[in-house]
Amino acid sequence: MRVPTSTQVSEFVRNSRLWRSIFRYSYPTDRRNRIMTVAKNVFLHLHPNFVPRGAIRVTYTWCLGGLSFMLFLILTVTGVLLMFYYVPSVTRAYQDIKDLETVVTFGMLMRNMHRWSAHGMVITVFLHMCRVFYTGSYKPPREFNWVVGVILFVLTLLLSFTGYLLPWDQLAFWAITVGATLGGAAPLLGPQVNLLLLADYEISQNTLIRWYTLHVIALPLVLSLFLAVHFWRVRQDGGISQPL
Ligand code: HEM
Repeated sequence: MRVPTSTQVSEFVRNSRLWRSIFRYSYPTDRRNRIMTVAKNVFLHLHPNFVPRGAIRVTYTWCLGGLSFMLFLILTVTGVLLMFYYVPSVTRAYQDIKDLETVVTFGMLMRNMHRWSAHGMVITVFLHMCRVFYTGSYKPPREFNWVVGVILFVLTLLLSFTGYLLPWDQLAFWAITVGATLGGAAPLLGPQVNLLLLADYEISQNTLIRWYTLHVIALPLVLSLFLAVHFWRVRQDGGISQPL
């Protein structure tokens, strides 16, 4: 029997139904194929087909939005790993964090990566906001994305605050005391706001589980949704604005 050559094998694979069902366009050597390859691929379509040279100048964006997103991804991965050990119980939370620092393999690394990325994200999101402001990138047609950005900024701060409470140490206890008291001072609805924040009439297990659920599920989910809208809007508004 004649052994097929590598060219024949590659020809056969490329003509197979399976291959053509995944890769619908040939190698992107011309302009049309480049656009089609990017636009029709679920992973590649996240990238624009064309980017204006000025918009990718590092000294224009400082990649602050990208850095914020990268930190969010690190926070998600390390956060999930921390969830394997941390139990949101008032009798265990503090000890679990101490165990993470001293007993659990790579626990200290995971905790510190999570902590420092959280601090870093607050800083990079704030600086990203400043960059957008100083380059005037909030102006039409990007004004709606600025509003989405403000929501992202508030969500980032809320994630930071809710995470701060989870070690259930003195810092956490007094942070929630201050937060709930501030809420309680709201006009008209003060007591209701206080009850909403504490999930009880005093700081208790109910409070911890409420803030934990917000920190690990509700807020990351809402932030992810708004991030998707944010990135989609960047594309819809004609890509990143360009230096004047
Ligand atoms: C979780 C937080 C955020 C993430 C991950 C994020 C991510 C990004 C990314 C990757 C871009 C592309 C350009 C760049 O990197 O600078 C961008 C653009 C933009 N962001 Fe954000 N962003 C966040 C928060 C904010 C905030 C707080 C604001 C303003 C209040 C904002 C307003 C904008 C606007 C208006 C653009 C378009 C800028 C342009 O066209 O030059 N973003 N964002």
